[in-house]
Amino acid sequence: MSFTLPDLPYSYDALAPYMSRETLEFHHDKHHLAYVNNGNNLLKGTEFEGKSLEEIVKGSYGKNAGLFNNAGQHYNHLHFWNWLKPNGGGAIPGELEKKIVEDFGSVDKFKEDFIQAGVTQFGSGWAWLAVKDGKLIVAKTPNGESPLVTGATPILGVDVWEHSYYIDYRNRRPDYLKAFVENLVNWDYVAELYSKA
Ligand SMILES: [Fe+2]
Repeated sequence: MSFTLPDLPYSYDALAPYMSRETLEFHHDKHHLAYVNNGNNLLKGTEFEGKSLEEIVKGSYGKNAGLFNNAGQHYNHLHFWNWLKPNGGGAIPGELEKKIVEDFGSVDKFKEDFIQAGVTQFGSGWAWLAVKDGKLIVAKTPNGESPLVTGATPILGVDVWEHSYYIDYRNRRPDYLKAFVENLVNWDYVAELYSKA
């Protein structure tokens, strides 16, 4: 397969004031597009042509750094746009909420751990909620990596590269993460991925 950039599932103004039009224009139209274009160029002529995106991400990890970085970021961003929605945050669908309480003790504890993972990811990367061996875990990864490469299934991720928040929050990464959790998360999409994990 080759990589293509999908349109955002909402308008560029839809996530304000938590994520601005300018951030989405740079992040989607420039950064994500660059991963798509570079990924397509690096995919050409490799053993990964014709494979699914997840197979490319997992297969190129540790083997082909250039392809992995771009395919990994394409995978992460495809989901990221769907992990956001206008008037997000709020109630977590029942079955997923139950599992979060079971594995973290409470929803608040999960949110605290998730935000802490994002705050403490040194440099560029992502913080995650993932399913591993039937259990929910919080994780953080550098650059374009995701829990996919450690055999887990990501169901929620937040981009903590500076390109995702610097226009709106400058150096206040904790404020961006708090807004992501409280006002932007599309829990229906997280629950959909959880049901398939
Ligand atoms: Fe990004």
